[in-house]
Amino acid sequence: MDVSEEMVRQAESLVHHEGVSFQVGNGEDLRPLRDATADFVLTFTVFQHMPDLGLIEGYVSEAARILKPGGVLAAQWNKPPAPVEVESARRIVAAGPPRSLARKAGPEDRSRVPGRRVPVARIRGMCERSGLEGVAVRGEGTLFAWVWSRKPAPATQSDV
Ligand SMILES: C[S@@+](CC[C@H](N)C(=O)[O-])C[C@H]1O[C@@H](n2cnc3c(N)ncnc32)[C@H](O)[C@@H]1O
Repeated sequence: MDVSEEMVRQAESLVHHEGVSFQVGNGEDLRPLRDATADFVLTFTVFQHMPDLGLIEGYVSEAARILKPGGVLAAQWNKPPAPVEVESARRIVAAGPPRSLARKAGPEDRSRVPGRRVPVARIRGMCERSGLEGVAVRGEGTLFAWVWSRKPAPATQSDV
């Protein structure tokens, strides 16, 4: 799902696999996907474009709603940069854009991209408040941080 009709149109023109479909969403939740119907929910390079924490938490809670018990959410987001990342970002900006991009966009254009970085503890809290468990964070210290969590499954005979 994507809020952009153009992104969905391009995805439909590029990907032709049985059982794969794309939908335009309303930008706030995962309607019309039904409760407890998904085995796996994945989001990649989307949360960092959302300026509002409430919107991100809304999507985490929606992921929990549509997951089947035992289903898994894998969400990529941007956490605040570690000092080493800040330093390397400074160097990249100071060096200026690569020659191939210089004519299209200068470094000043980066500041116009809306979005935000979210501390690990806030993302954990969102998962936990949505009833997800087993929260694990991967990729800390890289550009792409991931949080994995699971919707609790009912206890089976072997658990007791
Ligand atoms: C960098 S693209 C990533 C697209 C895709 N996930 C991928 O990996 O190719 C970010 C996408 O987030 C979408 N997006 C931004 N805000 C959104 C929102 N509130 N709800 C749903 N999608 C949103 C944009 O339309 C854009 O297609």
